[in-house]
Amino acid sequence: MARDQRDYYYRLAKEEGYRARSAFKLLQINEKFHIIKRGDSVVDLGAAPGGWLQVARKLSGGRIVGVDLEEIERIPDVITLKADITQESTVDMIKNALGGSADVVICDAAPKLTGAWDMDHAVSVDLARSALRAALKLLKPRGNFVVKVFQGDMFADYLNEVKREFESVQAHTPAASRKESAETYIVAKKLLTGPVRRGDILDVLIESTGKSGDGVAMVDGFAVIVRGAKIGERLRIKIEAVKPNFAFASVLGRKD
Ligand SMILES: C[S@@+](CC[C@H](N)C(=O)[O-])C[C@H]1O[C@@H](n2cnc3c(N)ncnc32)[C@H](O)[C@@H]1O
Repeated sequence: MARDQRDYYYRLAKEEGYRARSAFKLLQINEKFHIIKRGDSVVDLGAAPGGWLQVARKLSGGRIVGVDLEEIERIPDVITLKADITQESTVDMIKNALGGSADVVICDAAPKLTGAWDMDHAVSVDLARSALRAALKLLKPRGNFVVKVFQGDMFADYLNEVKREFESVQAHTPAASRKESAETYIVAKKLLTGPVRRGDILDVLIESTGKSGDGVAMVDGFAVIVRGAKIGERLRIKIEAVKPNFAFASVLGRKD
């Protein structure tokens, strides 16, 4: 069964001119989540041999930059860099090559597998952390991020780190992933840039009333809607959900 599946996507990649069967993973992820749209600028971290770059170019037609430790054979209209995504200086190289910020950062980077399951998992999470750090510096507000991670006991913590930074985050394994593989993809949409994050506890003053009748506190110029709160109240609140332009909070207690 696994062999049939491998052969199927391998053959399809050959037929359709993709350099790697992994191209179908990005196509399937994009079909479900609409991560890359026409005109988007896209950065691909860990991009060799270039299957995802071919897909990104086809889907967006915008500016595309791919980075890998290995040389990437030329793809028309795609800029490629030979660099290590765990190095701080690589982010500056990418920014220069891109000429600005990115709409989408994708990362299919994988360590050379040792077969020692917990070691491979740990290195994969390290790479994914580097990718998240790079994405936070490279993305425009509301930008999207897709990253591969091998499942294991550090997965949940990493997923929560991504959840703090984006409005919607899901883990997804596309059909083209091999059944025996531990890989999964975290699909994160709409980078948050406001000053608060889900779970934050803050002391605030309710300054106005929103359309819903709930109280509104301003945190560094960012509106936080506090359910059931009244103007003039000083409250301890907990941030429950964050959107790009405002957040929702519940009341933990009153501060007299
Ligand atoms: C599964 S392949 C990517 C396949 C690619 N998405 C495609 O469709 O052709 C994983 C890549 O991650 C790269 N990689 C691993 N660690 C890296 C690092 N620290 N910096 C840059 N690339 C890295 C590897 O060299 C390898 O080419």
